[in-house]
Amino acid sequence: MTSNMTNSSTTTSKVFLITGCSTGLGLSLANAVLKFGHQVIATSRNPVGTPSAVKSVEAQGGTWLPLDVTSSALEDQFKVAFDVHGRIDVLVNNAGIAVAGAVEDFPADGYMAMFETNFFGPVKLTKLLVPYLREQRGGTIVNISSASTWSGQPALAFYASSKASLNGEWLLFLDSHLELKDHLVDIFYSIQRRAGHRVGTIRHKRPDGRPRGYENSIY
Ligand SMILES: NC(=O)c1ccc[n+]([C@@H]2O[C@H](COP(=O)([O-])OP(=O)(O)OC[C@H]3O[C@@H](n4cnc5c(N)ncnc54)[C@H](OP(=O)(O)O)[C@@H]3O)[C@@H](O)[C@H]2O)c1
Repeated sequence: MTSNMTNSSTTTSKVFLITGCSTGLGLSLANAVLKFGHQVIATSRNPVGTPSAVKSVEAQGGTWLPLDVTSSALEDQFKVAFDVHGRIDVLVNNAGIAVAGAVEDFPADGYMAMFETNFFGPVKLTKLLVPYLREQRGGTIVNISSASTWSGQPALAFYASSKASLNGEWLLFLDSHLELKDHLVDIFYSIQRRAGHRVGTIRHKRPDGRPRGYENSIY
């Protein structure tokens, strides 16, 4: 976050759109941002599945909406979110899934799902928001990445690749070729290290246990 967003008593309130708020980092971030006095549109695929999370955000003045970054209805869901305050200042692309498995065993639907969620989801949301950020002449896009993109971890080659795509060419392209910096748009990526809670929502393992060759790994 930029330094002018760290203290509610000295700053103007910003509108945050955060994906993947049902659990983990997204939920913690939504609650933290609200405590700093900003507006939050927290989103998740199935809000009725996490009633206490929804309640805690709404009790603090936040809004909770359904949003699935892989859905064909994403554009409509984004528009509903945008219209809540008529602007979005900070997009946090947090939604993510981690599918672990040995390369030779990895099912195509597993790595396609990761790229759809971890890479193309943020790409689509960024595309939807950028025209408004240009018009506003300012804004911030935060992509939650992973330390696995820097240091290899067993069984996470495809997950790391989906996150690295976001760190790499996409970030470079937005930064230089689209010249968003001239429109005062900041683009960040945050490298998350292994957190205390579970990683991701899907696991691919061989039916008889850990992926072959990874018997001694964390997976
Ligand atoms: N935990 C770690 O150690 C770690 C390390 C490095 C990076 N990360 C990254 O940090 C971010 C947050 O991870 P976390 O640890 O907080 O994981 P988490 O607890 O599993 O939360 C992931 C969130 O993403 C949501 N999600 C999954 N697919 C979605 C989709 N298609 N559309 C919208 N939301 C979707 C999940 O919602 P549902 O309830 O609908 O499944 C959930 O709210 C992820 O991008 C993850 O890759 C985590």
